[in-house]
Amino acid sequence: MRVLFIGDVVGAMGREMITEYLPRLKKKYRPQMTIVNGENAASGRGITEKIYKKFLQDGVDVVTMGNHTWDNRDIFGFIDDAKKMVRPANFPEGTPGQGIVFVKVNHLELAVINMQARSFMVDLDDPFRKMTELVEEARKRTPIIFVDFHGETTSEKQAMGWFLDGKVSAVVGTHTHVQTNDARILPQGTAYLTDVGMTGPYDGILGMRREPVIEKFLTALPKRFEVVEQGRGLLSGCILDIDDQTGQAKNIQLIQINDDRPYRE
Ligand SMILES: [Fe+2]
Ligand SMILES: [Fe+2]
Repeated sequence: MRVLFIGDVVGAMGREMITEYLPRLKKKYRPQMTIVNGENAASGRGITEKIYKKFLQDGVDVVTMGNHTWDNRDIFGFIDDAKKMVRPANFPEGTPGQGIVFVKVNHLELAVINMQARSFMVDLDDPFRKMTELVEEARKRTPIIFVDFHGETTSEKQAMGWFLDGKVSAVVGTHTHVQTNDARILPQGTAYLTDVGMTGPYDGILGMRREPVIEKFLTALPKRFEVVEQGRGLLSGCILDIDDQTGQAKNIQLIQINDDRPYRE
């Protein structure tokens, strides 16, 4: 199975990059499954039902989330009906939404798990123990398991990669918005990437307007951050090739589209 994963879509520019490039990427790479992280899709903060539906219309199969899941109140109105959405599985028991989803491709099934790290982040349930539980549940149905591990630190993300080596097909990080250059296949067959990077404004600071961010560093005063609304775009993703029988990853390939690395058909 070939899976396309695209990192944190930020605001309208990010959504436009998906609409513009997803059909082209699908034509070029022919993935059977497309997963997109949508935690920043609504002006950098959360997602709305309208945006979720537009993603599906654009050809996205599963939307993963992160620490910004609840930032737009719209989420509470539709998350329990959003069958193609996963939010971090280690939110406390009883939190709306789901942390694992199964999607079918012909006769095959892919499990998608979203999990949030804890270093320099909100103290959720232990992601490692929760992962053990969910991997066990997933493996009863399929060996093809994709994990979006939403975290701040490289060490916690690497730890999760090694912890899950041989148990899942891929552990790909999100949240830092900057793509790392450490894509690899771990010895037991798990594809690993510390962070896939973001999709949206190329000239902001993690997608936000630069001036208030710089100002905040200069003054230490509170500043209101806003998403960059126009300018040059960026898309960050990766392609995973997974053995249908064993669930082991065979290859991971990075995708970057921006003015410095223009898209080629
Ligand atoms: Fe993000
Ligand atoms: Fe995040």
